[in-house]
Amino acid sequence: MSGSLRIVILSDNQAKPGFFGEHGFAMLIEMDQRRILFDCGNDPGVLAANADSAGVDLSSIDGLVLSHGHYDHTGGIPHLLELKPTLPVYCHPGIRQMRYSIRDATPKDISVPLESSYALDRMSAGNLHFLEGPLHLSENLLLSGPIPRQTEYEDTGGPFFLDTDALQADPLNDELVLLCSLAEGIVVCTGCSHSGIVNILHWTQKRFHGQDILAVIGGFHLVNASEERMRKTFDALRKLPVQQWVPCHCTGEAATEAFFREFPGKVCSGAAGRCFDF
Ligand SMILES: [Fe+2]
Ligand SMILES: [Fe+2]
Repeated sequence: MSGSLRIVILSDNQAKPGFFGEHGFAMLIEMDQRRILFDCGNDPGVLAANADSAGVDLSSIDGLVLSHGHYDHTGGIPHLLELKPTLPVYCHPGIRQMRYSIRDATPKDISVPLESSYALDRMSAGNLHFLEGPLHLSENLLLSGPIPRQTEYEDTGGPFFLDTDALQADPLNDELVLLCSLAEGIVVCTGCSHSGIVNILHWTQKRFHGQDILAVIGGFHLVNASEERMRKTFDALRKLPVQQWVPCHCTGEAATEAFFREFPGKVCSGAAGRCFDF
């Protein structure tokens, strides 16, 4: 176990000057001579422009991971498969479930966009890898598979349903996270943390026998969190050996501020164009 790791954020709600922001998420992960794109944003034009500005050649990636089946993480699929039709894609088999966010009785379709779904349909079966449990992409890159939900105070983080009448809650059990192992500890990459950021980190601690966590990067989806959830979440996070927090995407402004307050000197907010070397 060792090597080096580089992470470049290519889609996020915030952006560095010279990059575009959007409601979406994507980051490039380079480790073990592999170049993995973890999620692919919302608007393919934003992904392409940000990749260009970051000097990232999207036709040279050798794997695409889809953290879960929401439109803001899967919009770039047709563009990427056009650039590289044999690109291996890794995701949970439940990713193409129809799903809705329902506010004021108005359903909004937040599923994988149709064009992305069709592009997945056209892939040859050998390149589309479905996983329902942990899977190594390389020696030091591990995809989690579904994360057990154990805390009583963490829910999926929004009014998410599988039907337009709000009868069946969406458990978002297609979500997976990517863990990168270095000699000094683990870097945790998460899309939206619908499984709960505490559940994710407890699972990581168990899987990696309490090793230090060098960084947690991604959306923590605390944007709608109640005061009680926030209090219990930070009570749990304070007990974990995490050296750096990079809240991105759907973490929410109030929660991001809380990270800065709770963990002074250990937080860097995410933004498209930001690069992290480990
Ligand atoms: Fe998201
Ligand atoms: Fe999401």
